[in-house]
Amino acid sequence: MLKLPGLIDPHVHLREPGATHKEDYDSGTSAALAGGFTIVLAMPNTNPPIFDSTTLDLALNAAKQKARCDFGQYVGAGPNNADSIAALAGKAAGLKMYLDSTFGELRLDDMTLWQAHFQNYPQNYPLVAHSESRTMAAAILFSAIYNRPIHIAHVSLKEEILLIKAAKEKGIQVTCEVCPHHLFLSKDDIPAISHGHAGRGEVRPRLATKADVQALWENMDVIDCFATDHAPHTIEEKDSDNPPPGFPGLETALPLLLTAVDDRRLTMDDIISKMYTNPKKIFNLPEQAETWVEVDEKTEYEIKAENQLTRCGWTPFEGWKVKGKVRKVVLRGQTAFEDGKVLVQAGYGRNVRENQNGLLAKVNCRSGF
Ligand code: NCD
Ligand code: ZN
Repeated sequence: MLKLPGLIDPHVHLREPGATHKEDYDSGTSAALAGGFTIVLAMPNTNPPIFDSTTLDLALNAAKQKARCDFGQYVGAGPNNADSIAALAGKAAGLKMYLDSTFGELRLDDMTLWQAHFQNYPQNYPLVAHSESRTMAAAILFSAIYNRPIHIAHVSLKEEILLIKAAKEKGIQVTCEVCPHHLFLSKDDIPAISHGHAGRGEVRPRLATKADVQALWENMDVIDCFATDHAPHTIEEKDSDNPPPGFPGLETALPLLLTAVDDRRLTMDDIISKMYTNPKKIFNLPEQAETWVEVDEKTEYEIKAENQLTRCGWTPFEGWKVKGKVRKVVLRGQTAFEDGKVLVQAGYGRNVRENQNGLLAKVNCRSGF
């Protein structure tokens, strides 16, 4: 039996408010526990999007009643909230900036808006950018100009990981995450994922070439975090004429990565640093006392959507054979998950930003909040 710390996923979509038929704080945090995660940070591209105090309270109230593991909720950088959103930094997981096209309405094309957000959002609170390719280069330049840390979401391309490596070597405060689906799948796998429905292969960033995938593996030391970008859409939606992009990932990430450890492509240290130590530091997350995950390293099994707790009803890894099963999760002294069953009540999960008032004192806030 292998004992791991409670894992942290800094990038999930829990669909609450607005699309709880895909997922909600209850089903999403249950899936998280089943995957060995005890903290998830939820993205703001909901309906309505989380971009002011009313919508943040809407999401946090739902989370407070429903979450079974600990959580944080991001706020989104919108076209009209650069002057007001900084005031919410203490309550939010971080500020998410959508600089490239994605699912939802929170996209910022105009660089004067980027400037306002970079200037206003307090320096030592996390700022996460969805920025691909050349947009990523621009986002990293902003980080250098405004001398503040930036975390780049879901890096998928060779040119991106090499750019981040070079930026780090220059001392720019950039960190990044890579998703398991960009490590284990390339665009060549789309036909196998699709089962005749092209929509199932749709994800942002898109699955890349084999050379891109290889570059991510070769630059493992540049990758700060593994994040699932758990983006559940129902199988009916994925198979429709207008399929939304996104893959579920909370229940497949750890088994896939443990299988890579078994294959000697990764080390246990990679898993612990990229799923616990680094995200904890980058996102300023609290210690969870008496919290751990027990994994049966030897158990081999087949990934099946029907065994998952996510509400979306499918996985791009259907039928994959993996080695390493989450047996038990203990969260703050209570057995939260054991042998396939969630054992803590809805509402057991805590907001990671509660009682973190000390953080605020350190803020170098230029906007006057
Ligand atoms: C995400 C979603 O469905 O919300 N989809 C995706 O393909 N990753 C959006 C996102 O993470 O940008
Ligand atoms: Zn996402």
